Amino acid sequence: MNKPADLPIGVTADAPALQPQVGVSRAHEAAHLHVSGEAVYIDDIAEAHGTLHAALGLSPIAHGTLVSIDVEQLRRQPGVVAVLTAADIPGENNCGPLVHDDPILADGELRYVGQPVYAVIATDRELARRAAAMAKQFIVATPLPAVLTAREAHAIGQCVIPPMHLARGDAAAAIAAAPHRLDGEWAVGGQEQFYLEGQISYALPQENQALLIHCSTQHPSEMQQLVAHALGWQSHQVTVQCRRMGGGFGGKESQSALFACVAAIAAQRLRRPVKLRIDRDDDFLVTGRRHGFDYRWSVGFDPEGRILGAEIDLISNCGHSADLSAPVMARALCHFDNAYWLPNVSMHGYGAKTHTQSNTAFRGFGGPQGALAIEMILDGIARRIGLDPLLVRQRNFYREGQDVTPYGQRVEDNLIGPLTDRLIETSGYHARRAEIAAFNATSPVLKRGLALTPVKFGISFNVVHLNQAGALVHVYTDGSVLVNHGGTEMGQGLNTKVAQVVAHELGVPVSQVRASATDTSKVANTSATAASTGSDLNGKAAQDAARKIRQRLAPLAARLLGGAEDALVFDGGEVRAGARAVGFKELVAKAYLERIQLWSDGFYATPGLHWDRAKLQGNPFFYYAFGAAVAEVLVDTLTGETRVLRADVLHDVGQSLNPALDIGQVEGAFVQGQGWLTSEELVWHPQTGLLLTHAPSTYKIPTANDMPRDFRVALYDAPNAADSIHRSKAVGEPPLLLPFSVLLAIKDAVAACGPQRCDPPLRAPATPEAVLDAVDAVRA
Ligand code: MTE
Ligand code: MOS
Repeated sequence: MNKPADLPIGVTADAPALQPQVGVSRAHEAAHLHVSGEAVYIDDIAEAHGTLHAALGLSPIAHGTLVSIDVEQLRRQPGVVAVLTAADIPGENNCGPLVHDDPILADGELRYVGQPVYAVIATDRELARRAAAMAKQFIVATPLPAVLTAREAHAIGQCVIPPMHLARGDAAAAIAAAPHRLDGEWAVGGQEQFYLEGQISYALPQENQALLIHCSTQHPSEMQQLVAHALGWQSHQVTVQCRRMGGGFGGKESQSALFACVAAIAAQRLRRPVKLRIDRDDDFLVTGRRHGFDYRWSVGFDPEGRILGAEIDLISNCGHSADLSAPVMARALCHFDNAYWLPNVSMHGYGAKTHTQSNTAFRGFGGPQGALAIEMILDGIARRIGLDPLLVRQRNFYREGQDVTPYGQRVEDNLIGPLTDRLIETSGYHARRAEIAAFNATSPVLKRGLALTPVKFGISFNVVHLNQAGALVHVYTDGSVLVNHGGTEMGQGLNTKVAQVVAHELGVPVSQVRASATDTSKVANTSATAASTGSDLNGKAAQDAARKIRQRLAPLAARLLGGAEDALVFDGGEVRAGARAVGFKELVAKAYLERIQLWSDGFYATPGLHWDRAKLQGNPFFYYAFGAAVAEVLVDTLTGETRVLRADVLHDVGQSLNPALDIGQVEGAFVQGQGWLTSEELVWHPQTGLLLTHAPSTYKIPTANDMPRDFRVALYDAPNAADSIHRSKAVGEPPLLLPFSVLLAIKDAVAACGPQRCDPPLRAPATPEAVLDAVDAVRA
């Protein structure tokens, strides 16, 4: 450490160029660990002595009354140390986040094939799994009729949440008075998160009635609470840690809880460390995923394709419990407008209860399901009146004076017009449209299609109080910096962005800043890392913490260097006042000796939000993120196979904190959304209710081969008008809506098989079977 007398004060002739730490591409902080296999996921944590392994015995039937579980027989299986059932849960048997309707282990009623009924704890994982797999043999139940589809459940009024209505104007009257009318029914399937690291929790007993739980979760604070409730404990007895997830995609926002609770209950009961890691098939069978939606709509429009009135029912398949289905539906209703002005609109959301896995968050959180409906409607209108769907979209865009959403928020700083115009130009849309028409005219088997779709996505949690975050920044006496914040790292690069923000604030290179694992004993009462708000919230909180430290260092620096505190520049690893400079490291060492606090907390709460949950009215979003994509596809009308030949994306991330990470997020979201809409099909057995597509052998996520052959992703570089962290915008979810263009380009190609103005009845996902059915339908 430097003695004060040694403190070197540098003098430079010219002020050096600033070295900003934000707005520059930086590798993901753990990229080198990801690729070398050194990144520690929960199953990589060295196992503590005496670790036991849990496995779950699953319900073999979709619906029924649980009569008995032969626990004695299960206990006698090799290696089995204990068997837990609902009766062994000391506190509340619930892992549901909002409505307490989600048992950890089945209690009385069996609700879906795959529901955890008991947990086996054994000396090793294989033995635990063997005993768990005997569920069919050892569970006695009386079957009851099961309802497996949302339509069926809705028809008999079976729901997990009350209906939600969002309306403006008089939609029915506007439709009746409109020159044209279109009625439709459509459905889109669900989607499995398919995080590469499956659900896992590892619970370690600590002294004096406490537990440390390593959990792969987007929501450590909620895991802490639910575990405490399940044990009948206080929150301070439970610490939840998450270094990183191997993907979450919404699937570990609430649904990591079941695994955390089972591991915790077992660890507490046996006073031994217990790990619960389920395999891929069980992960599919136990946990829920994106809600599939059924739609029924009527719209009235003018001869130019402008929507005058729209009425829509949205029925989501929630599965057996509420989970996050209410906020998912709220976001769906708040995104039905997408980029369009709907003067008269009436939306009705119904959350159907089925005897299947409980559906949950998935990238976009209902937003994609809402917006996709209006895109299908506009495509249908355009085909009906024989116009390019792009023109009909543009005519319906929000614009000056027609810029209030159905939920009452004004669309400020609307980029959709200029962004779309630029993309039309850079993608050569109009020339390619003509070229594709010419190609299709002479190509009977292979057909090409083109579509441009826009995105407007509201950023913030729809629940006001969740929009808060905390952070801790520690500066050590050697000048190195450690930041801890409430967000979780799931591959999206949040830690990298937060480290950049802190580095920027303190004027040190980002290599000098390290982010530590998310930990409920550090920052308390955190929100889920979700709704794409991770860097908005935690970036601001970390900035606040770093700024406080800088402000404490400033008087000392000013004293050492001479000059005013507010003229100091923290940059490039030093602090400058005009031509004089002191190293950050030296300044910090001196500050320590002067007993200046070198660590700080930081806090942030998003301003200006309000939301009336009952009326679905207010200002739920801090700002909107915009984007648009043009997709060109090739369809083989004999096999139904499709290929994305080219995709041009222009996406708004405000002033990017890290363009490389943001482009990665846009590309990943695009391909993930493309998978949802083209290849990922969920099939439940119509009689037994077993999810048949519960492994990659039958459930097809997109691979590198499915990526657009020619993929051109650009960022629309304009600072966020809202005062977000360094004027950036959230990027996690909005680009998932961009590949609507792929689905609609496929529809466009299929339309080329039929008569003029035909509207192909294409299902989603547009699998080869769905494409062939649509081709047959337009040719008939
Ligand atoms: N990117 C990766 N690599 N892995 C993920 O699990 N989840 C997505 C998105 N991008 C995800 C991802 C989802 S669902 C959300 S809400 C955001 O990241 C959350 O992180 P953020 O708020 O920091 O963007
Ligand atoms: Mo993302 S669906 O909000 O976890």
